Amino acid sequence: MIYLKFIVLLIAFLSSSHGSRVLELSDKFSEVRREGGHWLVMFYAPWCGHCKRLEPIWAHVAQSLFKTNIRVGRVDCTRFSSLAVEFAVNGFPTIKFIKGEEEHTFLGDRTKQDIVNFALRMSGPPVQELTRADSLTTIKGQNHLFFMYVGTQEGPLWDAYYSVATKFQPHGFFYSANTDIAKQHVDLDELPAVFVYKESLHYFYPVESGSLSQDAEHLNTSMYNWINEERFETFPKVTRGNINELMQTKKYIVLVVVEENKLQEVPSEMIEFRDMVESVIRKKRDKYHKNFQFGWTGTPELANSIAMTILPLPYLLVLNSTSHHHHIPEDDPGHLTPEALDLFLERICNQTAATYGGNSLAVKLYRTYFEARTALADMYRGNPVLTIVLFGLPLGFLSLILYSICCSDILDADEEEEPPHEKKE
Ligand SMILES: *[C@@H]1O[C@H](CO)[C@@H](O)[C@H](O)[C@H]1NC(C)=O
Ligand SMILES: *[C@@H]1O[C@H](CO)[C@@H](O)[C@H](O)[C@H]1NC(C)=O
Ligand SMILES: *[C@@H]1O[C@H](CO)[C@@H](O)[C@H](O)[C@H]1NC(C)=O
Repeated sequence: MIYLKFIVLLIAFLSSSHGSRVLELSDKFSEVRREGGHWLVMFYAPWCGHCKRLEPIWAHVAQSLFKTNIRVGRVDCTRFSSLAVEFAVNGFPTIKFIKGEEEHTFLGDRTKQDIVNFALRMSGPPVQELTRADSLTTIKGQNHLFFMYVGTQEGPLWDAYYSVATKFQPHGFFYSANTDIAKQHVDLDELPAVFVYKESLHYFYPVESGSLSQDAEHLNTSMYNWINEERFETFPKVTRGNINELMQTKKYIVLVVVEENKLQEVPSEMIEFRDMVESVIRKKRDKYHKNFQFGWTGTPELANSIAMTILPLPYLLVLNSTSHHHHIPEDDPGHLTPEALDLFLERICNQTAATYGGNSLAVKLYRTYFEARTALADMYRGNPVLTIVLFGLPLGFLSLILYSICCSDILDADEEEEPPHEKKE
């Protein structure tokens, strides 16, 4: 009955936009959400460029989720601003998963697969139980990385796993299985056990002897830290969408910077460099895994804005995720050997490597200035005349006004004269 009412309601004020599976939502959505059901909603504005780029992806997302119980919709926030207020939307596009009163914002990369996975995770329980022997094989085929609890669903280890899974549900897949199912895939010494599966390998959560009888808080914290560190691949692609998540590991981020073209191709000499760095973490995981998270990026702008200069490519940058300082090798990174990289990382560990950047006000200001200048330069290359008209004339007036307002010693502190890398001791 309720379902029928739901359908009627849907037909009443949702209109499907030309054959697409995406439902066009109005301010009535505020009532519809209370009917229950799972919603994946994009909040957008018609003028926003990122929203336009998301549109075809969004149609594919809706298509992928069509056979599930998740409904995919979108809200034009310029027409239904009350919804934007209700859902605290403060940027476009914003993607939210909505389940009754609950709502979760999607923070990852706006690719079809990432968005679909996010919705599938959020619509299920925090830990999904596997009941059939072949389910684990299926999951291994679908997911590159997931967590698994093996044993009976009770006791301190289960409680800690479940509570941490609830916290990380937007970011990762969490399963549980009984011993019979798990035994077919992996050797188990002790039960219960927790492992992460990534790159075709199983890594176990180290259950310290006696830790299961310790206080729950200690176990929760240690489980939280372990899952937080293990939830990334060994050598992931780093983007603006996931770099903030990577920084949550509180490790050093070893970032290989290469350039990807529009077809996501990387020039071969850059691939060689990237493979070299990857081989270091693959061969010496035991040595580096605790303190370093490796990764690579195909968007040099991301690394440029960390280093606050235009980097030659390929490049290597190590970012301290707590202090936001960064380290760069002394020699030309393009000619770095595995041995030299080893030494460099050791010196970062014993804090004898040179440190740059950081998060002080001066550095933040310089970074803002650098990003604005680069953005302007890009725009100038794209359309010089328009850029000059848009920024040149008003800036000229503005600087004249500022000059007459500000005292001259502020203008004397010319930031452009400063070397891009402020050496900090
Ligand atoms: C630890 O996990 C349990 C079980 O889920 C939970 O009830 C409890 O609040 C957690 N404790 C802390 C300190 O997070
Ligand atoms: C980052 O820098 C801080 C302060 O210099 C230091 O204490 C910490 O060990 C460094 N490393 C990481 C991984 O945060
Ligand atoms: C730091 O590590 C480097 C490279 O392994 C080594 O040469 C140097 O002696 C170490 N410095 C200290 C103070 O331990």
